[in-house]
Amino acid sequence: MRTRVVYQSTTGNTKKVAEAIASAAGCVAEPVSTATVSEPADMLFLGAAIHGGDVDPSIKTFIEGLDPALVKEVTVFSTGFEQDKEKAVGIMKGLVAQRGIAVTDKCYFCRGRFLLFNRRHPDDEDLAGAAEFARSILTG
Ligand SMILES: Cc1cc2nc3c(=O)[nH]c(=O)nc-3n(C[C@H](O)[C@H](O)[C@H](O)COP(=O)(O)O)c2cc1C
Repeated sequence: MRTRVVYQSTTGNTKKVAEAIASAAGCVAEPVSTATVSEPADMLFLGAAIHGGDVDPSIKTFIEGLDPALVKEVTVFSTGFEQDKEKAVGIMKGLVAQRGIAVTDKCYFCRGRFLLFNRRHPDDEDLAGAAEFARSILTG
């Protein structure tokens, strides 16, 4: 199974989760700034957080460039404030679905540090949870 992990991370929170997922999946975590849309994937893990009320434009552009003939399924993940749990994953799921690509119902979310909030997150438990999530998705 060809697996990719692509993420956008402004302060490093989502990057940590991306790396935990990639390590469990046996691939590298690719920052969206250098990720190409032309590579095929059976499963693409896609991660980003909310910044200024939305996901970063770079992740939107990446999704818009995805080819349904090359990418079979996308699973999304995010970090942030607990009350915004559904926001970034909801935006990404919607955009991927618009491209005609299957989106996994399940997603992974954990708290992410912002200023004095959520200090120490993502922590070891969050990252272990991300790895376990990835394994459960990949083994069906
Ligand atoms: C510049 C900036 C803007 C943010 N704007 C929001 C926001 O509008 N709403 C929100 O819930 N969280 C906001 N956050 C919190 C982030 O979503 C949270 O810290 C997330 O874990 C950051 O992930 P990252 O380090 O991978 O970018 C913001 C964080 C930063 C650094």
